[in-house]
Amino acid sequence: MRSLNRNRRAFLKAASVTLAGGLLASRASQAAAAFLASAETKILTGEPLDATEIHHLEFIREEEKLARDVYIVMAEKWGNPIFSLIIESEQRHMDAMLKLLNYFDIEDPVPDDGVGSFTNSYIGGLFTTLTERGIASEDEALAVGAFIEEYDILDIWKAVGETDVDHINEVYTNLYEGSYNHLRGYVYNWEKNTGKIYTPQLMDPEDYKDCIGFDTQAKQKQNG
Ligand SMILES: [Fe+2]
Repeated sequence: MRSLNRNRRAFLKAASVTLAGGLLASRASQAAAAFLASAETKILTGEPLDATEIHHLEFIREEEKLARDVYIVMAEKWGNPIFSLIIESEQRHMDAMLKLLNYFDIEDPVPDDGVGSFTNSYIGGLFTTLTERGIASEDEALAVGAFIEEYDILDIWKAVGETDVDHINEVYTNLYEGSYNHLRGYVYNWEKNTGKIYTPQLMDPEDYKDCIGFDTQAKQKQNG
C-alpha cells in the first residue's frame, strides 16, 4: 500500500501554495484539484498503478530521451537551429517524466544519460536507425524529426487512453501538445527546403491535420 511519502507531501505543499497564490491559470488550478480528488484517492486507497501505466511511464521517459539524443546528433551534423531549440524542450519533457517516475517510486529506466544509451532495446534500435537516416541529408534529418514527433504523439495518445490518473494525464497532455509544435516546426522546415508537401509518415491524415492546425501559441511557454 502506498504511503504518504516525501514526494507526495512536496507536491501537496507546492499545489497548496500555488493555489493559494493564484499563480496558475484556472485550468492548471482545476488540474491540481483534479489531482487531489482522483489520483490521490487512487493512491490513498492503496490502488497501485497497473503494469500498463508503469510501462507507459518508463517507455515515454526513454522516448523523450530518444528524441533529445537524435536531435543532438542532428544538430551537430547539420547545424540547423531547429534541432537545438527542440533539444531543450525534449530535456524538459524527460525531466517531467522523471518527476512522475520518482513520485510513483518507479525506477528510472535511464541510469546513463549519455547520448544513445537506452535500457529499452527497441528504442535503442530506433536511435540507430533514425540517426543513420538523418545523417544522410539535412532534408532526411528534418523528416526524421517529424517521424519522431508523430511517433511520440501516437504513443502518448495511447498512454492517455490507458490511465485514469489525472496527474499523469496532465503531464502527458503537456508532452503531446509540445510535440504538436515540434511536428509543425519540422514540417515547416522540411517543406521549405524541399518545396514539397509533407505527408504524415505514421499518423492518420485527419489526425495529422488536427495536430498541425492545433493552436498552441497560448500554451508555448507552458509546454516548453
Ligand atoms: Fe518533441
